[in-house]
Amino acid sequence: MLQRARLLTSSRPLPDFKAVGSNGPWLDTADGRRMLDGSSGLLCSNVGQGSQAVFSRIEKQFSHYTFGGAAVVQPHIQLELMDRLCQAVGRPEDSVALTTCGTLGVEVAVGLARNIVRVRDGKRRGEILTSDLSYHGNSVFTLGVAGNQVRDPRPEDRCGLGPAFPAPYPPTHGHAHEAHGCDASCAGEVARAIDSRGAENVAAVLIEPVNGTTGGAFVPPGGYLRRVSEICRKRNVLVIHDEVLTGLWRTGTPLASRHWDGCEPDLVILSKGLGAGYTGVGAVLVAPELAPLLRHRDADPLPAMGTMATHPLQAAACLGVLDELESMDHGAFAARGERLGASLRSLTGWATVRDVRGIGHLYGVEVTPGLLWPLMQECERRGVFFYPFTGAGHPCSEGLVVAPPLNCGSQDIDCLTSALTDAVAALS
Ligand SMILES: Cc1ncc(COP(=O)(O)O)c(C=O)c1O
Repeated sequence: MLQRARLLTSSRPLPDFKAVGSNGPWLDTADGRRMLDGSSGLLCSNVGQGSQAVFSRIEKQFSHYTFGGAAVVQPHIQLELMDRLCQAVGRPEDSVALTTCGTLGVEVAVGLARNIVRVRDGKRRGEILTSDLSYHGNSVFTLGVAGNQVRDPRPEDRCGLGPAFPAPYPPTHGHAHEAHGCDASCAGEVARAIDSRGAENVAAVLIEPVNGTTGGAFVPPGGYLRRVSEICRKRNVLVIHDEVLTGLWRTGTPLASRHWDGCEPDLVILSKGLGAGYTGVGAVLVAPELAPLLRHRDADPLPAMGTMATHPLQAAACLGVLDELESMDHGAFAARGERLGASLRSLTGWATVRDVRGIGHLYGVEVTPGLLWPLMQECERRGVFFYPFTGAGHPCSEGLVVAPPLNCGSQDIDCLTSALTDAVAALS
């Protein structure tokens, strides 16, 4: 008998079904049912399960050689991946550091940003400013600096770190503009946060361009990210976009920031959509005007990548994921995202659904506090599952993150939305 209690993970009740097979967005369960994955695993299985393109890339690399770190074997396949990735996200001249996961991507980006501003601007301290409705990973640093209420370290353990400014979203900034909600002027909070610390002490603002699982897919007000970029540029503070969750078409564009003008970041971190659940990976992209500073004689040594971060099988899997993403019919894909959004928005007609927001293939369906777990169960009973979010505020906002694989079909989307609508109706 397997012991569930042995698993040291968050307190969320474990799902009741056991998966024994899969096909695209579907999982086959041990009791003969099919479950539709409405969450892309942990917002990462963006091209579904069992991709032949990924399999054949891994198989081919396996037949060549299975391990070779960049320090010992020429990293051909990793360089090929970096090339493809930079082209795919429209930053063809960037330099890249690879890591094994999103958290380490953020950690490496922070180190690189500090190094850059020390060389470029002579900054002595390298503070990193984040918002109070954010998640940037589960290391001691990223938990301390971010604003995830549920995973907040105790004050005595947070090493003096903490979020620096309110995110422009109602759960933590609703009071600011009660009459008209948040808008681009909320970026003024970022300016205040930098100025109160002294720009000479701040290396970077680290921000999720579209909120992920912490608040439940909030989309920033138009002009907000641009204002943040302008504020930072004026003060010689770098902008790092954490696109671990949103990168590679999750929101409909290669990078979520592409929905708006004037907010291209200095550094961007990608992860979930690149490995797509086939491999752990993180990639930090650094803009071409900054990367040379990292090789300056006054710069600190470049980061070691870590044993597994230049793994050739990892690179092969990622190339297969890019093959899948680039071969999608992007017109049909965009239409599916719109259709998904429209169906989900109609759920606000139910009293139990407080709000629906999001973009592309990423939505938050916020429900009346207390209904999240019953709703998850109702959904599971109807053959679909989602990722839960428990956000912020009093009482804490809660709901489902709806984020199916990007290449699932229109019929799958219809299945998902009708199961969710039935589940909401059953609770209303
Ligand atoms: C925005 C964001 N940043 C960083 C991370 C950490 O990534 P990982 O779990 O791969 O370490 C996550 C994970 O959910 C995330 O959503």
